[in-house]
This record gives sequence, structure tokens and C-alpha cells, in this order.
Amino acid sequence: MSELSSRIAGIGAHLPARILSNDELSAMVDTSDCWVRERTGIRQRHIAAEDETTADLAEIAARRALDDAGLSADDIDVIVMATTTPDFTFPATATQIQARLGMTRGFAFDVQAVCTGFIYALSVADNFLARGQARHALVIGAETMSRIVDWTDRTTCVLFGDGAGAVVLSAEEKADPPNGILATYLRSDGRYKDLLHVDGGPSSTQSTGHLRMTGNQVFRHAVTNIAESMTTLCERAGYQISEIDWFVPHQANQRILEGVARKLSIPSQNVISTVADHGNTSAASVPLALHRAVEDGRIKRGDLVLMEALGGGFTWGAALVRF
Ligand code: UT7
Repeated sequence: MSELSSRIAGIGAHLPARILSNDELSAMVDTSDCWVRERTGIRQRHIAAEDETTADLAEIAARRALDDAGLSADDIDVIVMATTTPDFTFPATATQIQARLGMTRGFAFDVQAVCTGFIYALSVADNFLARGQARHALVIGAETMSRIVDWTDRTTCVLFGDGAGAVVLSAEEKADPPNGILATYLRSDGRYKDLLHVDGGPSSTQSTGHLRMTGNQVFRHAVTNIAESMTTLCERAGYQISEIDWFVPHQANQRILEGVARKLSIPSQNVISTVADHGNTSAASVPLALHRAVEDGRIKRGDLVLMEALGGGFTWGAALVRF
């Protein structure tokens, strides 16, 4: 059998209409627009309406990605959805998207790797396609982080936002030089749970819990681990960091993006940043950033794109894609 690779055939995104500014947040907790901008680069974030769920955001992003790929739900063999904020403890939100799209064949499931979720989901779907187990996959990152944030905790509530992004992956014969997903690199280290976690869950507290983070320690790990994952991935795939056209990072903090770019000598004009407008949307942040740069014409077919993320767990990882 010939070798297969996964091409990004379509991309879609969706953000809730409601925008929450730093000034509005300053009326809720002891913070200021100046502090949030200087320490994070965030100016605003989108917040889901009371009756708007993760599945609602994901469905719109998924439909847009399908349209962009020129495919219908009938063409999709698998949905892999990355979310930390599912509509229900079970079933997986991916199965709800499957039903909403009218997809009655194939299979759908969620992956839980918090902010690294989209990178994990992309890697999992890529493996199904490479093995010939699926021809077309829908990969979604969608979150309503506003539901698990403690709105009285200024150290975390200013950071997060809601949104969804999705890509359609299509299997095609491996070209020479190769296209599509060239390599992925996944890591986790469970010893760091206490630095970034949610203090509840079905089995422990029978409640959803709230996000807790020791931000400055996560920050240090983020810069080191992300830079390491990017260099390791490029080395394994046989590329130089200097060959990368676009760096599409997880959008947690503008200072992290810049720290990683500086460490790896990536020019700032090659870094896609949406953190100012979206805040940290966890698993949705990478596809939302990718979508923006594709839509505004910066990322073009044939460009070499490096995506990365780090999140609770810790989990971290990267994906190298010839777009
Ligand atoms: O997506 C998963 C990965 N997440 C991340 O990568 C996030 C990583 N961490 C960060 O982005 C940054 O650490 C934060 C933005 C969370 C915090 O920035 P920092 O420069 O590391 O600040 P800090 O936590 O060291 O806190 C400095 C000061 C503290 O006051 P004292 O103790 O010096 O008096 C905080 O209480 O800033 C205070 N502070 C605030 N002040 C105004 C913390 N949050 C706020 C706030 N407004 N919202």
C-alpha cells in the first residue's frame, strides 16, 4: 500500500458575539486594563452567552471547515474533538457534533489534553488517516473556559476566553517532498498537576470545579518546554527552525510567544498572535489563530507552519505542517 499523508483540506472558526473588555473586568475584580495588557497582551476575550455551549460553538466552526473543504458530513469518517469544557461529563461532545451534522456513520470521540488538546487531536486523527482507517477527519478544538473560571480570582479570570476552531484533514498519497502534516510531537508530565488544574470532577468532588493556576511557574515551564518540543520536532522531521514560514503558537500570553520566538530566533513578523483579541481559549486557540492567518492571506498553500501548545497536566507538543 502506498504511503498516505494528511492534508488540511478546510478550516473554520467561530467566536461568541459577546466581547468582554479589560475595563469591564476591572469592575469585577481588582485588576486594570494596563496590568492585563502589560503582563499578557490581552485586550479582550469572547464569552459564550448563557445558553451557548461548547457544542454550539464547535458545530458552527465544524460546518465552516466542511464548507471550506467542499465536503459534507457524509464524507467524514471520524471526528476528534479537543475540549476541557464538554457539554456533559458524558457522552463525548464529539458525538453531539456528529448527530448535529447528521453524520450517522463513522465514529467520534473527545480528547482531553487541555490547552494542548488540538495538537493531540490533530496527531490522533493524522494516525487514523496514515493507517488508512479514515479518509477524511474533522478535528475540532472548542471551549467555554468562562464556565470553569473562578470569576472572583483575578490571577486567572482575566486570562481566558471562549471559542472554537476546526480543520478537515484529508488523506492523500504522500508527495515528494511531502505535504500536509509532516510530523507531530506529544509530551506530558503528570507531576505538574498542581500548577495548573481544575479543583473538581465527577469522581473526586461530584462538581465541575474551578481552574487554578500558579501562573509564574507555568510561564517558566511553558517557554522551556515549548521551545524544546519545537526543536525536537523539527530535528526529527529533518527541518531547520529557520525554514518555518509561520509559527502558530497556543495563545496564552504574548510574553510567552515572544520568549519562545526570541529563544529560537524566529522573527516576530512570522509569529501569528491572536491573544490580544481572544485571550486564552485553551484547545481552540491554535485553530483560531491558524484560521485568522489563513483568512487574512498570510498563510498560503505550500507554507511551512509550526504549531505548538502547553497546558494542564502538564501536556505539551507541536505539529509541523506543509499547509
Ligand atoms: O494555557 C495554559 C498555559 N498557561 C500559561 O502559559 C499562563 C502562564 N502564566 C502567565 O501567563 C503569567 O504568569 C500570568 C499572566 C498568569 C501572571 O503574570 P506574572 O508576570 O507571572 O505575574 P505574577 O503571577 O508573578 O504576579 C505578579 C503580581 C502579584 O502581586 P504581588 O504578589 O507582586 O503583590 C499578583 O498578585 O501581579 C498580581 N496580579 C495581578 N494584578 C492585577 C496577578 N493577577 C493580577 C491581575 N491584576 N489580574
